[in-house]
Amino acid sequence: MKKLIIINGPNLNLLGKREPNIYGSLSFTEFLDEIKAKYTHFTIDYFQSNIEGELIDKLHEVGFNYDGVILNAAAYTHTSIGIGDAVSAIETPVIEVHISNTFSREDFRHVSYVSPNAKGVIIGFGLQSYELAIQSFL
Ligand code: DQA
Repeated sequence: MKKLIIINGPNLNLLGKREPNIYGSLSFTEFLDEIKAKYTHFTIDYFQSNIEGELIDKLHEVGFNYDGVILNAAAYTHTSIGIGDAVSAIETPVIEVHISNTFSREDFRHVSYVSPNAKGVIIGFGLQSYELAIQSFL
């Protein structure tokens, strides 16, 4: 069975409560339960941290033995050379996802340190962005 992990960065623990007009009103745990029930042929692990170094540590930990990483580095996408380097350093393919269309928002969200080293990028489909990323491993 293929092993995937969803890694969420800062403030994504507040999904469901945080700016629901942008990010929707479903909590990530509710969404994750639905996804796990739907894609039973994958093992889908989940990790969230608000701390940049913990996200890097997790990428190192999974990056040589998982089949895929689905990464929403949230605000660190736009600032973190360290996370970009970690994505480049590991062997497991990384799909970058964003819930909102970052290109229709502020200019600082148009830059990504993850994209150059990602296998693919899925942006702007709400929580469905994660599901589309999972489907890419089918
Ligand atoms: C986000 C977009 C980022 O710009 C923002 O900082 C987030 C969430 C998204 O999924 O739409 O926290 O990554």
